[in-house]
Amino acid sequence: MSKLICLCNGVREKELIEVIHGVDIASLEIIQNKTGAGTNCGRCINTIEAFLEKQESKHN
Ligand code: FES
Repeated sequence: MSKLICLCNGVREKELIEVIHGVDIASLEIIQNKTGAGTNCGRCINTIEAFLEKQESKHN
């Protein structure tokens, strides 16, 4: 099972990847709207942003 990113909403890495692949430009906002990750305590926001950066650098 993929890594749990957002404890509050039980969002896993796999779900973030699916969202990122489904849009042209992924942003924290899009992730929040589509998965709910980062919309509660906000503790996972840094992790989500780091994840987005990592995914972007893979495409460049
Ligand atoms: S862990 Fe993601 S909002 Fe709390």
